[in-house]
Parts: sequence; C-alpha cells; structure tokens
Amino acid sequence: MALWRLVTLVVAFLVVDARSSGRSKYAGGGGGGGGSSSTIGHKSGGDGGGPAAAPEPSNGGYGYYSTNIYDVLSFGAKGDGVTDDTHAFLAAWNQACKVESSMVEVPANFVFLVKPLVFSGPCQNNLVFQVDGTIVAPTSAKAWNGTSLLQWIEFARVHGLLLQGSCTGAINGNGPAWWNSSCKAKSPAPAQAVRFYGSSNVVVQHLAIVNSPQTHLKFDSCQGVVVNNVTISSPYTSPNTDGIHLQDTRYAAVRSSRVSTGDDCVSIQTGCSNIEIFDMMCGPGHGISIGGLGRGGTKACVSDVSVHDVVVHTSQNGVRIKTWQGGSGSVSSVHFHNIAVLNVSNPIVIDQFYCDGRSCHNQTSGVSISDVSYKNIRGTYTQKSNIHFACSDSVPCVGIVVANVELLSARGYDDIPAFCWNSYGEIFSPTVPQVTCLQQGKPKLGQVQSSYDGC
Ligand SMILES: *[C@@H]1O[C@H](CO)[C@@H](O)[C@H](O)[C@H]1NC(C)=O
Ligand SMILES: *[C@@H]1O[C@H](CO)[C@@H](O)[C@H](O)[C@H]1NC(C)=O
Ligand SMILES: *[C@@H]1O[C@H](CO)[C@@H](O)[C@H](O)[C@H]1NC(C)=O
Ligand SMILES: *[C@@H]1O[C@H](CO)[C@@H](O)[C@H](O)[C@H]1NC(C)=O
Ligand SMILES: *[C@@H]1O[C@H](CO)[C@@H](O)[C@H](O)[C@H]1NC(C)=O
Repeated sequence: MALWRLVTLVVAFLVVDARSSGRSKYAGGGGGGGGSSSTIGHKSGGDGGGPAAAPEPSNGGYGYYSTNIYDVLSFGAKGDGVTDDTHAFLAAWNQACKVESSMVEVPANFVFLVKPLVFSGPCQNNLVFQVDGTIVAPTSAKAWNGTSLLQWIEFARVHGLLLQGSCTGAINGNGPAWWNSSCKAKSPAPAQAVRFYGSSNVVVQHLAIVNSPQTHLKFDSCQGVVVNNVTISSPYTSPNTDGIHLQDTRYAAVRSSRVSTGDDCVSIQTGCSNIEIFDMMCGPGHGISIGGLGRGGTKACVSDVSVHDVVVHTSQNGVRIKTWQGGSGSVSSVHFHNIAVLNVSNPIVIDQFYCDGRSCHNQTSGVSISDVSYKNIRGTYTQKSNIHFACSDSVPCVGIVVANVELLSARGYDDIPAFCWNSYGEIFSPTVPQVTCLQQGKPKLGQVQSSYDGC
C-alpha cells in the first residue's frame, strides 16, 4: 500500500476515535447561520429518520464531526485587520480544546491580526480549526515582546487536529514587512509562519499560506501528518521562504499542493522517516531538498523518503540531497520517481560538500548516503549542470540508481556531461546525459568510513 494511504488511514482512524458521540457533519465553512453564539449544537435525532442530510462535509474524508462551533467573533475578535485579536483566538481555542468534536471558526470576510500565539494541546478528540477568513501577522518584532522570534502561530502537543481552509481563507505572514530584515540581512524575522510541534495525527488541507516571513509551514517532532491541497506562495526573491519544512517527523504525506517561494518547496531535515511527497507543483523556488544535514559535526538521520509525480519548474534545483562535511549519520532509501523539471538550474544534485557560502574545509567524516534512486526524471535545465553527484572522499555514496532520466539543456549546451565524484551504483539505459562517471558496484573495503553510524 502506498505510504500516503497508510498514513491517511491511520490518521483518519485515530482522529475519529470519538465519532460515535457526534452525529452531525460539519456543513462547510463560511456563510452559515448566525455565528454569534459560541456553541451551536447540531445534533440530529436518533438513527431513524433524522433531519435532512447535511451537505457533504469538506473534511476530505477524515471524518471530523463538529458539533460545537467556537467562532472567534463571539470571543471578542474584531476582524478589522488592525485590532489585536490574539486573546479572542486563544479564548476560542481554549474552549474548543476542552470539548469533544469542536471547531474553532475563523469566519470569512474578516481579517484578523494576531500576535505570536501558541495553541496548546492536548485537547479532546475531533478538533477542527477552520480558516474561512484571513489571519495576518504583525509587522514588527515588538509583537514578540523581547522573546525570540521562533514562529508566529504554533500548535503544540496537539493529537488529532484538522487545520482546514477554504477558498475564502488564508494565513498571511505579512512577509514584505519582514523580508528586508530576515536572517541573511540585519535583524531577524520569525522563522516560521505556522509550526506544529510535538503533535500527532494532524491534517492540514485546502489552506492558503502566503508571504511568510521565512518558512511557511513546519512540522517538528510530529508523527502522522497529512498535508493536502495546500497553496503556499511568496515571491521568488523573498529570502529563506521555505514552503514546507519537516524535521524529526515520521509518517508524513505531503500531497496535491502548490508551492512557489524564494527557497525550498519541501525541505526534509534530520530525524525524518517514512515521508511521501507526491502530486506536487513546485516553483518558482529551490526545489525539493533533503538537508543540509550534519552541520557543525552533528549526527543526522533520514530514511525512507519517496518523492514522486512532482513538477519542479523555474527553480534553482530539482531534487537535491545536501550534507555538510564533518557530520555523521545517514540518508538512506530515498526514491525520486516521475519528476518533471522545467527551467531548473540543477535538476539532480547530491552535494556532500554543502557549505552555504561560508568557508568550509574537508573533514574525515560525513553523513553517509545510500540507496537513492532516480527514475523517470525528465525535462530541461538552464545551467551547465544536469546530474551532479558530489560525494565525499571519506564517505562515498553507494547504491545510486539512475533509470530513464532525460535532461536536455534549455540553452542548447547538449554536451554537458553528468558529474560524479566518489559515487557508486547502477545505471539503467536510456539516460541522457549518459552517466558513465558513476562507478559500478560498491567501493572497496577501507574506502568507506569505518565507524558506522547507526541511525
Ligand atoms: C512583555 O514582557 C514583559 C516582561 O517579560 C511583561 O511584563 C509584559 O507583560 C509583556 N507584555 C505583553 C503585552 O505581553
Ligand atoms: C525593502 O527594501 C527595498 C530595497 O531596499 C525597498 O524598495 C522596499 O520598499 C523595502 N520594503 C519594505 C516593505 O520595507
Ligand atoms: C483545494 O482547496 C481549495 C481552497 O483552498 C478549494 O476551493 C478546492 O476545492 C480544493 N480542491 C480539492 C480538490 O479539494
Ligand atoms: C526560467 O527561470 C528563470 C529564473 O531561473 C526566470 O527568470 C525565467 O522567467 C524562467 N522562464 C520561464 C519561461 O519560466
Ligand atoms: C574537498 O574535497 C573535494 C574532493 O576531493 C575537492 O574537490 C575540494 O576541492 C576539497 N575542498 C577543500 C576546501 O579542500
């Protein structure tokens, strides 16, 4: 079974634990009658002959049943884009969190300014956070009141949550106010617009997240995550605006989403395993990236990543694995299949000499890379680089598989060869360019880093 199906099933199963208690389905966002009372019960009668069936839920089949709706307006939010609505949001969350089958409703046609806030769990089962209106970020670090600018909106230790948007809703990080001062410049900007920390069984769907100060959506120490039909956008020129960032996260499916930013489309960091990314439209941006891993001598572990049926266009890279010299740990079992690259500078990259502009020297250890396959990867590249496997002297890459790759220069440089350094694996024809530089089989004993770093 495809990983995403498994993740979806597991998440659906866990979050609907309590479905028997509520009979009504959430009947779509927006509009909806008089959101002034804080609790709207919609419980239908018994099993036989209840009221007319509710409209199809827009819950994507995750089976959330919201019987108690907590509208932020009824907790004092103004929604004028100027008033600080933080307390109303927290109050609505705190109430919803206590009651099974609840929904925090952010109504359409309002703009809510909220300061940095943490929606903390654990909560009762079957919680929905419905974004039909716009939530905007503050434009100054003063809103963080001297605390470090980690993130703007955080969901912490929540187990079973559907964060859902609609065609009228968006989370807007007010990026233009921050980009001139983000970390590569003088003063800091919040690292993430939306962060899930220490949470499980989370679904984020039908949501737009735009103009984040830096990373748009981050999952950190999470397990059981589905991101589906999310639109992330900020300009190509915006600094460090990663789309979706996964770290220390297991069993995550990121699918059917569009990401155009100034940095990575999806970035996979240490501690991630069983990740499936598919049916994605990435670009402009920097492509899909694993790493940089092993920075500052750290140990990094990433395994079982599948990226398939993805279009990457107008991007710095297509699919990339990058590690710093001097780290330890491993990247293993990574599969890039059915990837279309269009107008991409460097379509296929393994870089074990990643350095990010600083001066780095070669070291005797590195994060090992093994069992990486590239199958059916096609399209055009714009720089003089198509396949680039730069593996370290101390830790060669092993088990690289290349099949049905066809990369053509968009500029007519059709004789650009593939580049390999210390990389071992197998080629299956036909492949353009030919990858004659890949060494067949395995490196000789003694050539491989002796201290194996079990991940
Ligand atoms: C800002 O921080 C100070 C000191 O930690 C605290 O006394 C004050 O209440 C905070 N202000 C707000 C608005 O949170
Ligand atoms: C950011 O800097 C650029 C160039 O210095 C300037 O044109 C732009 O107006 C600035 N944007 C903001 C929101 O301050
Ligand atoms: C995707 O989400 C948008 C709202 O952001 C919604 O209008 C659209 O119907 C969704 N598409 C699918 C296929 O669910
Ligand atoms: C190709 O990518 C470059 C940036 O790398 C961009 O300026 C250009 O507009 C893109 N061309 C097309 C046709 O998308
Ligand atoms: C590190 O090693 C690689 C491969 O041997 C070599 O190409 C590169 O120049 C070295 N870098 C430094 C900074 O010594």
